[in-house]
Formats: sequence, C-alpha cells, structure tokens
Amino acid sequence: MDAIIRLLNPGDEVLSTNDLYGGSYRQLVRVHQRYGIQSRFISMDDPEKLAEAISERTRLLWIETPTNPMLNIIDIEAVCRVAREKGILACVDNTFASPYLQNPLDLGADLVTHSATKYLGGHSDVVHGAVIVRDEELASQLRFLQNAVGAVPGPQDCFLILRGIKTLHLRVERACENAVHVAAFLQNHPKVKNVYYPGLPEHPGHAIAQKQMRHFGAMVSFDLCEDTFEQASNVLSATQLFTLAESLGGVESLIGHPATMTHASIPREERIKVGLTDSLIRLSLGVEDVEDLIDDLRHALD
Ligand SMILES: Cc1ncc(COP(=O)(O)O)c(C=O)c1O
Repeated sequence: MDAIIRLLNPGDEVLSTNDLYGGSYRQLVRVHQRYGIQSRFISMDDPEKLAEAISERTRLLWIETPTNPMLNIIDIEAVCRVAREKGILACVDNTFASPYLQNPLDLGADLVTHSATKYLGGHSDVVHGAVIVRDEELASQLRFLQNAVGAVPGPQDCFLILRGIKTLHLRVERACENAVHVAAFLQNHPKVKNVYYPGLPEHPGHAIAQKQMRHFGAMVSFDLCEDTFEQASNVLSATQLFTLAESLGGVESLIGHPATMTHASIPREERIKVGLTDSLIRLSLGVEDVEDLIDDLRHALD
C-alpha cells in the first residue's frame, strides 16, 4: 500500500471508502497526509455521486470489497468505469475475497493488493503482501519503489506463500461453506441483533456479490442486542475453538472485536456512523467441522 501511494505526489488526493481496514485508514491519514497526500472517505455505492466527488486533485480510488469489518460490497466494475472516465487509477484491496473468489483486474481495476498474510498464506504463519497490475509501466514504477524503499519479502516467507497457494481452492471452498452455516445460525440466535454476510439474500450487496464473486467469502460479522463492550467481551472470552486474534484467512477460525482491535485507530463517532458498534464481533471462518464451530458460538452466546 505504501508503494502504491508513493506513486502519487504532494498535493494529490486519494479517494477511498468510509468502511476500510483500520490499518489502511491509518496509513492514508496518519502517514501520507504528513507528506501532502490528502485522503477523503466516502460511500461508493452510487457511481454518479462518486464521479461528482472526484476532484482535480484526485489521482487514486482505493477500495476494498468485501469491506472490513462490515462486509459491504462495492461494485468493482462500476467504480473502475468511473476511474477510467476520469483518467485516474483504481486500486482494489482484494484481501477479504482472495484471488480464488474475485479477480478485480478482469473487472477493470488498475491495481490489486492482497495482504497475502491471510488466504494466500492460509496458515497464520507469515506476514506478506502483493500488488498485481496489468500495465508494464505501472509495474516498473512499483518495482523501482520496491527496490528503493525496501518492501522486499524474505525467501522463507515467499516459500510459505507459494506452499499456501497450492491449497487455496480447498481451504477457501470449505471456509465459505462454514461461513454460510454460521451466518444462518447467528441469524436465528435471540442475542444477535444484526448479521453481516454478503451470502444472505437480504444483504444489500448480495446481488453485486453474486455478480463479481464466485462465493461469498468466509468472513462474518455480527453485533449483539445488548450493545456494550462488556457483552462483546463476554462472548469473545467464552469461545474455545475460535481464537481471539486480529488476523484472518487461516485454516483456524478466529474471533475479533474490531472496535478495540483492528479498527481501534478509527474515532468512535466515525465507526458508529458506518455500523461498527461497540458490540460488533468479526469472525474469520477456518476449515474446522462446522458443527463444532456452531456449538462453540452457541455456548459463548448462551
Ligand atoms: C483488508 C485488509 N487489507 C490489508 C491488511 C494488512 O495486512 P497485513 O497484516 O498483511 O499487513 C489487512 C489486515 O487485516 C486487511 O484486513
């Protein structure tokens, strides 16, 4: 991400979404703003409003879909069309989907990023990133930055990612199936208020997800009827199979509390506006037996 933003110059602007991984928000606002690259955050549901929001300074659209942690879906093709018309770059952080579920270059994106730490590695034992582009000139600018700035992965890390990719299709298929069942279970639990999962037919992004993804992913978020930190903490500390941790995309299921973990950098008023409540809990489904996963959640919620 740092290398991509370094393609820009002071005075340029990044336009991004208002529901974004906390670390990406942090990098845009707290790192690059100091060097004169401003960022604005808007909803990208409506291509016309997006076109209006693009200013003379905007050089890059940065989107993420499904979003972290609200699992909103953005229409990649529509956003990339606007970027092309305006002559600016569109980048998609494809971490939540993985290349097995979604291929933004085919939908018009100029750049795709992955935290390969997640599904590509798949075993929570490596930290790695990838940028994928089609254009040779863009690739050579990024290669220059990679060499100059030093985001160069070690050989053991590369080995682990390559090994992980061999089972990507098996892991992601199984994790997605688990997510479908867990989301259905949560929807029927009396202590759960909202379930956020693009695979649910009532999810506002369901139709777009169906169009641009091969399955709906393995991330599920939900919040509680009693919307307090304390209640969320009770659930988080009671699971035995789900491990409390920030990352995602590994073979083992994880549970996390975005407000105090992954999204702690985002001011409370900002996060509440997008539905990231105090009790919001995020699950990364792994490949375990789905009945065991559901039993674990049932026990923790009860
Ligand atoms: C959507 C998204 N992008 C990027 C990252 C950054 O990943 P890494 O931990 O590899 O720096 C994360 C981490 O959670 C993420 O969720």
